[in-house]
Amino acid sequence: MKINDIDLDYTLASEILEDIKEDPMGDWFSLPDNFPDSELEKIKTVAERVRKNSDFLVCIGIGGSYLGARAVYEALDCADDDEKKTKLLFAGNNLSSRELKKLIKKLDGKDFSLNIISKSGTTLEPAIAFRILKAELIKRYGAEEAKSRIIATTDPEQGALREESEKNGYETFDVPLGIGGRYSVLSPVGLFPLAVAGVNIDALLAGARECKETQTSPDSLEDSMLISYAFSRFYLYDECGCDTEILASFEPSLLYFNEWWKQLFGESEGKNKQGIFPASVIYSTDLHSLGQFLQEGRRNIFETFLKFSPEKFPLVVPEQKDSTDGLEYLSGVSLPEISEKACEATIRAHDAGGISTFEIEVLDSDSEFGISERSLGFLIFFFETACAISALLHGVDPFNQPGVEKYKKEMYKLLGR
Ligand code: PA5
Repeated sequence: MKINDIDLDYTLASEILEDIKEDPMGDWFSLPDNFPDSELEKIKTVAERVRKNSDFLVCIGIGGSYLGARAVYEALDCADDDEKKTKLLFAGNNLSSRELKKLIKKLDGKDFSLNIISKSGTTLEPAIAFRILKAELIKRYGAEEAKSRIIATTDPEQGALREESEKNGYETFDVPLGIGGRYSVLSPVGLFPLAVAGVNIDALLAGARECKETQTSPDSLEDSMLISYAFSRFYLYDECGCDTEILASFEPSLLYFNEWWKQLFGESEGKNKQGIFPASVIYSTDLHSLGQFLQEGRRNIFETFLKFSPEKFPLVVPEQKDSTDGLEYLSGVSLPEISEKACEATIRAHDAGGISTFEIEVLDSDSEFGISERSLGFLIFFFETACAISALLHGVDPFNQPGVEKYKKEMYKLLGR
């Protein structure tokens, strides 16, 4: 199935975009071109302070409160970049004592600060991790300095974390009232830790702005890949019984981008016994595992491939004298060239196997690595908007998550709250 085969209703698309803008939880839509300058300045100033006094910033949050920052941090390989001094660590996204102990060990002998990110301020996983890490911070720096090393990102008006922050004079950032967790990466929720990690947050917002302008402005809808994607995936679900979407790419550093994407679509669409199940693969690794299922398993799947500009200085298959490995035909060929062919071959094979495929290509020729702040900002806004449109086509609210509350209620009962 090719996108062009599907009749798209551009009037409906434009009405839905208006609904998103007017939704009380639709403020994320205005972030790329309306981010308050003063807030951006504050993010940079506080980030600079943390960079000066910390080897690590521990980001404590779960779901939408951490996945966006982690997606960008990992996609840009910041942890391996020696020029980026302060590294991020992520806590409060599970209940594993082992994981938290490992993290605390990494902090041994290092300077660190905490960024607790929770809109509600009451989510159990981050609240527990915060309490434990706060004790570590106090042990290391004493109660007063510890307070100056805590930055809280939370509801601007209320909640336990707001209250604690005010009482102790923590530095704070607001999670704007009209922005929910999984749409918050381009707010202080994601931008502050990323700025600490040395990510160019202006370029991230510029990428998102470019997406907004080229994909959602009223005169661009007929050429908009975003609108095609949002409507076509709903068509595949509604008319063709495809209830699973696989996000596929050939870069291992996109693992957490996949996780962010799965949370975005899973929490936004999976309601009222409806929705497309979001799954992901990293090829070519997964061609040797899930690849078999995709090629010949149940035909309820469609696949969305992410593609970027090629890396500028890639590794090349070296020449080898007297070789016996049969690779001489690839001597001098770069890995991205081989990977590109593998991608093309996969799309052809899956297409022949009856899988509809989308290709979303985000080019940034200025970037040395292909995956850049600009391309990620573009993709974040692309998927946020496509997801909101898609949920509205399903007739569900893209911005709530009533199902998540159900497990919490049961858990609190068992824990005796
Ligand atoms: O997308 C969402 O709204 C959720 O994933 C929340 O971000 C997540 O549950 C964490 O909530 P909070 O920030 O209130 O701790």
